[in-house]
Amino acid sequence: MRLTVIGTGYVGAVHAACMAELGHEVLGVDVDAERIGALAAGRPPFYEPGLSAMLKSAVDSRRLRFTTSLTEAAWFADTHFVCVGTPQRADSGASDLRHVEAAVDGLAPYLPGSGYERVLVVGKSTVPVGTADRLAGRLRALAPDVDIAWNPEFLREGRAVRDTLRPERIVVGVRSVHAERRLREIYAPLLADGTRFIVTEPATAELVKLASNSFLATKISFINAMAEICDATGADVCTLAEAMGADSRIGPSFLAPGLGFGGSCLPKDIRAFAARAEELGLGASVVLLHQVDEINTRQRRRVVDLAERMVGGDFRDHGVAVLGASFKPHSDDVRDSPALDVADAVRRRGARVRVHDPEAVDNARAAHPELQFALDVAKACEQADVVLHLTEWPQYRELDPAALAAVVRTPALVDARNVLDPVAWRAAGWTLCAPGRPRLG
Ligand code: NAD
Ligand code: UGA
Repeated sequence: MRLTVIGTGYVGAVHAACMAELGHEVLGVDVDAERIGALAAGRPPFYEPGLSAMLKSAVDSRRLRFTTSLTEAAWFADTHFVCVGTPQRADSGASDLRHVEAAVDGLAPYLPGSGYERVLVVGKSTVPVGTADRLAGRLRALAPDVDIAWNPEFLREGRAVRDTLRPERIVVGVRSVHAERRLREIYAPLLADGTRFIVTEPATAELVKLASNSFLATKISFINAMAEICDATGADVCTLAEAMGADSRIGPSFLAPGLGFGGSCLPKDIRAFAARAEELGLGASVVLLHQVDEINTRQRRRVVDLAERMVGGDFRDHGVAVLGASFKPHSDDVRDSPALDVADAVRRRGARVRVHDPEAVDNARAAHPELQFALDVAKACEQADVVLHLTEWPQYRELDPAALAAVVRTPALVDARNVLDPVAWRAAGWTLCAPGRPRLG
């Protein structure tokens, strides 16, 4: 089948490459000509495991092409996936829908009129409940025969290709049998593999997405609230999380205590959800979501305070090594990165900060030109008074604590992700601390 993917960022580039991998002919569209140039040359504009090879093979076989022209997109296919960004508005927690509206408004005038095979616009961007129906009205004024569906995206960065080709579920919000049939055809290879296909109307599909991200965020903030209680009572949050997660009704995932969540989605999605709930006059839900956000923000401040205590209560004239800049491992995305937030807060309190990350240094430097960066861990740690482990890249688990102790000024470590082996680090002479583990040091 022929389809277009409008917006070729983290979601769109992966979706386009994976749809080509499933055998479709795909045209990726973006307003960013530089990005389109890189993608057309088979180069992903960001780091995502497995994407590079898949993109190159799809581009080489011409199953996947790229353009900046919405006219070309309208002529190319009768199914258009919209994957543009929906960032947080500058003036509130609500979702900024300008890019979604611009994509739909830009495409509509070029879409064929009645008499053609029906055109389907499929939203994948994360939007507040009610958006699809509002866009349907807007679209119909410009292109009367066009149908709209919502098919939220659940991929995780760092596992995006796997999540797209082997999703746990596909949710489609449709208003017509025709739209459901078209989406079943597009995803046929995945459905043949047994993927759950949940069909509903657009409002529920939109809500599934925001409710899922809000639930994941709530789980993380719940365990981080427990970490605060552990700090006050001498209990250990890692053992608590392990024991809670062993209950199959609770489950172990998204119970990793530490620095909390960041990235381009969980923080902005809970705020957008709260803003929409507020608009609807649903105060109780808003209180819950604000607390999830507040606990998460507090976690970052708590890690900065922990680190400050490790250097004797004042960062001035102290060296701080930061391990990790991306918002999570296996990604070079630094949007709302807790690690960079902490690094910058420590710098503002007077420390000399040097940051290391295996993949995200370029993005981190662009976002925080005032920070210093090092290309290897030893360089970042040279003469440091405290080392902050802020993003749990697997290579940090392989570090030799004895070798690192030889380059720092003081062997003091804050393991803000709670994954390093305290026994090995302590044996090499390190003093340790971590949120929710008051007896570690
Ligand atoms: P992104 O910022 O990486 O990419 C968005 C792309 O859209 C950019 O390349 C931008 O140039 C392009 N764009 C903007 N306006 C356009 C227009 N009018 N026409 C064509 N292209 C346009 O965003 P992303 O991280 O890929 O997220 C996209 C959407 O998917 C968001 O709603 C997000 O919440 C949701 N989502 C993201 C993830 C994720 O892991 N990043 C996962 C699931 C859902
Ligand atoms: C998240 C969701 O997991 C995806 O399903 C969703 O599609 C996506 O948001 C989105 O809508 O954009 P992602 O942001 O890629 O995916 O990353 P996650 O793996 O969810 O991690 C988010 C943040 O939570 C990271 O900063 C991570 O370090 C943190 N986290 C995660 C914890 O602090 N503790 C945990 O137990 C798990």
